[in-house]
Amino acid sequence: MNVLGIESSCDETSAAVVRDGATILSNIVASQNEVHEKYGGVVPELASRSHVENIIPVITAALEEAHLTLNDIDGIAVTQGPGLIGSLLVGLSVAKAIAYTTGLPLVGVNHVEGHISAVFLNRDDVAFPFIALVVSGGHTSLFEAKSAGDYPLIGQTRDDAAGEAFDKIAKFLRLGYPGGIIIDRLSTLGNRDAFSFPRPWLPDTPLDFSFSGLKTAVITTIRKMNRELTPAEINDVAAAFQEAVVDVLVKKAFLALEERNIGKLAVSGGVASNNRLREKLREAAAARGVSLYIPPPSLCTDNAAMIAAAGTPYLKKGIRSSLEMDAYSRMPR
Ligand code: KG4
Ligand code: ZN
Repeated sequence: MNVLGIESSCDETSAAVVRDGATILSNIVASQNEVHEKYGGVVPELASRSHVENIIPVITAALEEAHLTLNDIDGIAVTQGPGLIGSLLVGLSVAKAIAYTTGLPLVGVNHVEGHISAVFLNRDDVAFPFIALVVSGGHTSLFEAKSAGDYPLIGQTRDDAAGEAFDKIAKFLRLGYPGGIIIDRLSTLGNRDAFSFPRPWLPDTPLDFSFSGLKTAVITTIRKMNRELTPAEINDVAAAFQEAVVDVLVKKAFLALEERNIGKLAVSGGVASNNRLREKLREAAAARGVSLYIPPPSLCTDNAAMIAAAGTPYLKKGIRSSLEMDAYSRMPR
C-alpha cells in the first residue's frame, strides 16, 4: 500500500510517499526556519502563508522522487492536529481536494501519533509493547504503545515542552531559532558541571514533566551575574541546561519502562535528535538491556513520512475520515 502523507502542523511543509507503513519512497520537507528566524519563534500567520506557497510543489516533488503519480497512490494520510490551526488547514484542504478529485481514501492523523510512528520507518524490527517518549517543541509525553494506534498516555508535561524550553533559553541567550540544535552544538564546547540547575521531578506524578522552573532557574542565574556572558560561559550554560533536561527525560523514560515492566523504548520528536540525549539513552539502554528505537534525526523532526506511517494501519483497516473533518489545535481528550 502506497500512502501519500501530508504534514503542515507547524513550520515545516512536508509530503512523503511511504510503502506499507515502513518503506520511505520519498520524504520532502520544506523548512520555514528562514521565515521565522528573525522573530525568534514561529509567527503563525507567516507559517500559514508559507504553507500555501510550498504545499503543491512539495507534494509534486514527493511524487516525482518516488517515481509515482497519484494513480499509484492507495490512500492519503494528513495531519489533522494538534498544531497551528491556520497551518493545519492548508494541508487538510489540499488533502481533501486530492481525495475528492481522485476518490482516494483519506485519513486524518494525530501529529503526536505521527511522531511515535516515525520509529517504524525504514526498519521492521519494532515490536509491541513499547514505551514511547515524544519530545518535541509542542509535546513532552510518555505513552504505553500496546498495538498499532493504541497508545494510552501515561505522562506529560504540565507546562513547557522540552523543545520549547530549549527554544526559550536560546532566545534569552540571543542564540537564534530554532534553539535546540544550537544549544546541542554549543554544549559540545561547554562544561556541563559549570552550573548546577534543578532536575524537576514531581514526586507525586513522576511520569509527568515540568520544565518551566528549570527555565526560570537558568534565566535567574544569568540575570544574577548582571553582565554580558563570555562565549565560554554561554557554552557552559548551554551544556549545563541541556544536561538537566536530558537527565530528567532519560530517568523518567526508564521509570516508565520499570513501572510497566516493558523492555523496549522508542524516543522521537525534534528533541530526540539531540546528541547528548541520544548518547545518554544509548548508555542507559545498554546498561539495563533495553531495546532502544530512535529514528535518525531527519525523522525525529516534523516530516510527512511519519504521518503516512501513522495513517497506514487505519487505511488498511478501511478506516476513513470524512471530507467534513476539521483541524484541531490541541490534543483531544
Ligand atoms: O518535532 P518538531 O520538529 O516539531 C514539533 O512538533 O514541535 O520539534 C521541534 C523542536 C524545537 O523546539 C527544536 O528546538 C527542538 O525540537 N530540537 C532540538 C534539536 N533539534 C530540534 N532540541 C534539542 N536538540 C536538538 N538537536
Ligand atoms: Zn512535531
